[in-house]
Amino acid sequence: MRTVKLVVSLLSMVVPTFATSFEFVGPANGSLVIVGGGTLSDSIYQQVIDLAGGYDAPIVVVPTAGGEEEYGDDEIHATSFRRIGAQNVTVLHTYDRDLADTEAFVHPLLDAKAVWFSGGRQWRLVDAYAGTLAEEAFRGVLDRNGVIGGTSAGATIQGSFLTRGDTQNNQIMIGDHQVGFGYVKNIAIDQHVLVRNRQFDMFEILRVYPKLLGVSIDENTALIVSKNDASVFGASYVIFYDGKFWSREGTDLKNPPEPSARFYFLKHGDRYDLAARQVVV
Ligand SMILES: *[C@@H]1O[C@H](CO)[C@@H](O)[C@H](O)[C@H]1NC(C)=O
Ligand SMILES: *[C@@H]1O[C@H](CO)[C@@H](O)[C@H](O)[C@H]1NC(C)=O
Repeated sequence: MRTVKLVVSLLSMVVPTFATSFEFVGPANGSLVIVGGGTLSDSIYQQVIDLAGGYDAPIVVVPTAGGEEEYGDDEIHATSFRRIGAQNVTVLHTYDRDLADTEAFVHPLLDAKAVWFSGGRQWRLVDAYAGTLAEEAFRGVLDRNGVIGGTSAGATIQGSFLTRGDTQNNQIMIGDHQVGFGYVKNIAIDQHVLVRNRQFDMFEILRVYPKLLGVSIDENTALIVSKNDASVFGASYVIFYDGKFWSREGTDLKNPPEPSARFYFLKHGDRYDLAARQVVV
């Protein structure tokens, strides 16, 4: 009895330490380019190409969130990647989970250095790929130090909680699909935030799931994530909902609202520690 108890209490002491030193909130390997929708500057596509290892790096574009009947090689983001110099861009798409679960379908992902999820409705990505070989192969690209990027729905899918995942419309914040691909843990990611005045919508999720970090990204702006490090890239802002408040002019003389109602903005070049949930100054 005594030995068992001792082992149990030792384990409970050891396990959390183990978890914090070997697990990251973002991906342990590779990086994420999480974009808030809209028309993207070439510099964002260029970031994906650079992180993937250059113009020769194989890039797989997954347009499935868009909901069109079919997609050709001229899909809009595939075309943008090629226009700025990417040499090896493949469009990969199905709504058929059985097909997504085959070796033949995932073949282009096995050597890919980047995956890009285009916009639309995020639940379509879940319905087509969650639990299939394709989902495993997306993750494999990260594990091999590649990059996963995406915009709008392709941003939200990268979080653990699937913001706006309802099949009826895109205004229900906690919908009939709630689990994303989870490349970032304990997070809800929203997009188009300033352009569409979505800054208060995140609280609908945080009131129910207060332990999540809320991150809302504006158009033509990216959050680039690796391990616990997140940095803002692009023209506009990323809003953080972590119960804290931060300003580059200091906070001593400010009177922000109660913690559960707070948010603040970071801009290009600003860095955020996803484990400590605070700005890196
Ligand atoms: C694209 O990348 C794949 C995987 O590495 C490779 O098999 C193929 O030959 C490449 N295609 C071109 C045109 O470079
Ligand atoms: C991450 O990359 C390293 C080498 O850079 C490799 O040893 C390790 O197995 C990779 N992790 C995963 C989860 O694949």
